[in-house]
Amino acid sequence: MTAFTRPLILHQLRTLAFGAGCASQCAADLIERRKRSVFVVTAPPIVKLGEPLFADLRRGGCEVTVWPHAGQEPGIRDFEAALADAREVRADAIVGLGGGSAMDVAKLVAAFLDGSQDLRDAFGVGRLRGRAMHLVCLPTTAGTGSEASPIAILLDETDQLKKGVVSPHLVPDAAYVDPLLTVSMPPAVTAATGIDAFTHCLEAYANRFAHPVVDHYAIEGIRLISRNLVRAVENGTDIEARTRVALGSLYGGMCLGPVNTAAIHALSYPLGGEFHIAHGVANALLMPHVLAFNLPAAPARYAEVAVALGVERGRDDLETAQRGLELIRELARRCGLPSRLGEFGIGESAIERMASAAMTVQRLLERNPRTVTEQDARDIYRAAL
Ligand SMILES: [Fe+2]
Repeated sequence: MTAFTRPLILHQLRTLAFGAGCASQCAADLIERRKRSVFVVTAPPIVKLGEPLFADLRRGGCEVTVWPHAGQEPGIRDFEAALADAREVRADAIVGLGGGSAMDVAKLVAAFLDGSQDLRDAFGVGRLRGRAMHLVCLPTTAGTGSEASPIAILLDETDQLKKGVVSPHLVPDAAYVDPLLTVSMPPAVTAATGIDAFTHCLEAYANRFAHPVVDHYAIEGIRLISRNLVRAVENGTDIEARTRVALGSLYGGMCLGPVNTAAIHALSYPLGGEFHIAHGVANALLMPHVLAFNLPAAPARYAEVAVALGVERGRDDLETAQRGLELIRELARRCGLPSRLGEFGIGESAIERMASAAMTVQRLLERNPRTVTEQDARDIYRAAL
C-alpha cells in the first residue's frame, strides 16, 4: 500500500494563534470562555514571561495559580503534586507555559483532573479515555512542538524510564505560538531545542510511515529551521528568524502524532536517561551517524531533504543526499552544538548498555527507513564516540 492510499488521522488544535505578540490574546480568550480559576504550569526561569498574561487574567476577574515546578525532566511525583494543587484551587482551565516539560505536565494535569482514570493506566498509545478540562499551551522554546502534539512524556522515578501518554485528547484546545516568548532563551537552549524541532521534521519526512498529509509540514519545517536557526542562535532578538524557527517547530509538532520520529530519537533516549544529556543535544550528537546509516535505504527521500536544505542536486539521489548530510553536520556545528559523545565522558564501556536500552524503543525504531539491529545501534554509538 502506498502512502497515498494508506489512511491517516491528524488531530489538530481547535485554535492556533501564531506570530509575534499573539500571546496577548490568550487572556481575553480564557475570560470570554468564562474561566474563573486558571492553573498555570511553568518553570522558574519562565514565570516572568507569563506576568503580562497573569495580570490580564486577574484584571478580567480570574484567579491565577502559578505552579512553577516543571523543570527539566519532570517525573510522576511532580505531576501528582501539580494535580493536587490544581484540584485544590478548583481549576477550570489549565495553561502550559514553557518548554516541553511544562507543557507536558499541563497536558496531563488537564487530562487527569476529573479523577476518572489513573495515570499509570494511560501510559502507551490510545489508552487515555478523555479530557474534560480546557487546555491551553504557550511554548517558550521553538523545539518540542508539544503545543500541537498528542504526546506527553514523564519520567517514572521507580525505574528511571521516560514514559509517554499518546492520545488525541492531549492535543490542546488552543496554542499561542508567540516567537516573542522565545527571545530570552540563551543561545545554547535555542540551538538544542531548534535541532530537536529539525529532527522531528526530518524523521517524519524520511520515515517508513511518512504520509503526504504531513510531508508538506515536514519539508517546510526542514527548510525554515535549517535556514534560520543559526541566525536565531547568534542573535536572539532577530524576531524574523525566531518566527521562522517557531513555525518550523510547530510543523514538527504536527508531524509527531500521525507519523512520529525514528532511530535518531530512539538512540538518543539512553543519552538522556543515563547521562542526562539534553534531548536536543542528544539528537544532534547522533543525527549524522544515524543519517549516514539510513541514507542508502531511502536516497530519494533524503535527496528531497537535501534540496530543501538548499544543496545542488548531484549525479544521483545518493550523492545529493550525502551533500545534505554534510550541510546538517555544518548546521549543528555553526549552532555550537557538541559533536562527540566523548565530550560527555561517554566511552566504549557504555555502548553495550546504550544499545540494549535503545532496542526497547521499538515504537520509534519500527518507523526508521532502515531496520536497526542491536549491532547496528552499537556501531552507530561507536561512530559517535
Ligand atoms: Fe524530540
